Amino acid sequence: MQEKTDMRRTGIFITFEGPDGAGKTTQIRLLAEKISASGKSCMLTREPGGTAISDRIRALLLDSSCEEMAPSTEALLYAASRAQHVHEKIRPALDAGSIVLCDRYIDASIAYQAAGLGLPVEWVRRWSIEATGGLWPDRTYLIDVDFEIGQERIAGRGAAGLDRIEQRSRAYHQQVRETFLQIAKENPERVCLINGMQSMEDIAFQIWDDWCFYYLKRG
Ligand code: TYD
Repeated sequence: MQEKTDMRRTGIFITFEGPDGAGKTTQIRLLAEKISASGKSCMLTREPGGTAISDRIRALLLDSSCEEMAPSTEALLYAASRAQHVHEKIRPALDAGSIVLCDRYIDASIAYQAAGLGLPVEWVRRWSIEATGGLWPDRTYLIDVDFEIGQERIAGRGAAGLDRIEQRSRAYHQQVRETFLQIAKENPERVCLINGMQSMEDIAFQIWDDWCFYYLKRG
């Protein structure tokens, strides 16, 4: 299905995606710092979450005691969190002309809920389209890592433990990764695929280079 964004907004909407442990959070922060330093208005946010209501939905989604959550409940909760986030934060910032950087968005639902949990892609896509009024990113940085490296990085974070999604099997995470790669292949005009198995500096350099080129080309 073709991606189509409404054209009313004036800002630029950038998302970061990738398997768990890809290093998105570091890279999105670095890009936000550089964009801000170049004098442009920039807002950094994340999913699930980004607003008080969305953060409450996030807590439920990542709670490892919610084992019995049905796949469609999970997908609808991600869409609900996204609806509030777009309504309260992302769309107003775009309408005000900001560059919005969001850590995960619709592609994550396609990879983690549709492909990963076996829900029909069209449902998951439709729920997010309805939730966001058809707001698609202008550019997406997809940082790809294999399962082992992703796991090592998560372990190295020293966090309290794995959340409900991170705890899923290797086969699940491999399916997620393959789906992200497929999304990149199907949307070459939007998705910039980055090899996340390089150094942090090399990845940051490639993202900055692509961003400068994209921004200039957009005019
Ligand atoms: P988070 O701690 O933010 O992980 P990460 O830094 O790797 O993004 O938790 C977000 C988790 O939610 C992550 O495992 C991916 C998952 N997720 C989905 O399954 N579907 C979605 O639509 C989104 C936005 C995230």
